[in-house]
Amino acid sequence: MGMVIIPQEALSHGLPLPHEEAINWCSQLEEGNILFFPQTPIALLQDDIHFLLTLEQTSSGLHKNLAYKPALDRVSGADVKGADPAASERLHRILREYSQRVTEFLAGFLSPYQARWQLDYGSFRPQEEQGRDLPLRRRNDLMHTDAFPTRPTHGARILRFFNNLHPTRPRDWITGEPFRALVPQFAPEQIALPREQSTLTRITKKAASGAGLGRALPALKRSPYDDFMMRFHNFLKENADYQARGKREAWFLPPGSSWMVYTDMVPHAVLAGQYALEQTYLVAPEAMVTPEHAPLSVLEAMTGEKLV
Ligand SMILES: [Fe+2]
Repeated sequence: MGMVIIPQEALSHGLPLPHEEAINWCSQLEEGNILFFPQTPIALLQDDIHFLLTLEQTSSGLHKNLAYKPALDRVSGADVKGADPAASERLHRILREYSQRVTEFLAGFLSPYQARWQLDYGSFRPQEEQGRDLPLRRRNDLMHTDAFPTRPTHGARILRFFNNLHPTRPRDWITGEPFRALVPQFAPEQIALPREQSTLTRITKKAASGAGLGRALPALKRSPYDDFMMRFHNFLKENADYQARGKREAWFLPPGSSWMVYTDMVPHAVLAGQYALEQTYLVAPEAMVTPEHAPLSVLEAMTGEKLV
């Protein structure tokens, strides 16, 4: 487990990749590797990068992490009232194009997944990650596997693609042993393995609109799988022993690079870095080329129960 560097030649004949090559990259991801592109295949215009790097100074409201919601074609997280409308529009255009270009790229690079994913949120992360003052469960500098409180996946995989836009600094990550090796290290009562019945989680109108769900979904149905993944996320962040002594590797992801990883199975933390772009996909479990490594399969094998 670790990092797989994608050689420049892998892209020299264009996309889509030959089927066997694409299958190989999918299985590398599904084993828990980071696929790393020393030079991003999603290069932005220098002008647009400059715009993103200087956004903070020019628009005081735009200092938080900004989410792009492709389904609604909307940017959220920005206090756009104080922002110059031209700047808001430009930001929106850059995030929309990034999302579209990553999606187009992955459709050809990971062709076995194409059209078998749901396009989730994208984000721009302008804040310095080192020393951020966040509540424990929201901290990014503690090792965790991803789960979204308001967006249960029902077994779909969380795949994330990143660009480091910082002109000079790497993005410092650590990653740990993948899900199938990690979960058995904890006693079942410690991590509360999934129960049989699924839970109906009421969400308030506020939470629903914050998640871009509007009023269409009055309640959010989480499967036992989603319950477990959310609890496991919290458990890892709250487990001081794991944070201090869990196996880990450090990665310094340089400026101008890209990488992607299944963040639901690879515990990760970002220790330092600033200015990243990211796009998330929820990949259908049926699209996996090695389904036995998926967290859902691992948990179902452990419990002998259907969890979605
Ligand atoms: Fe994460």
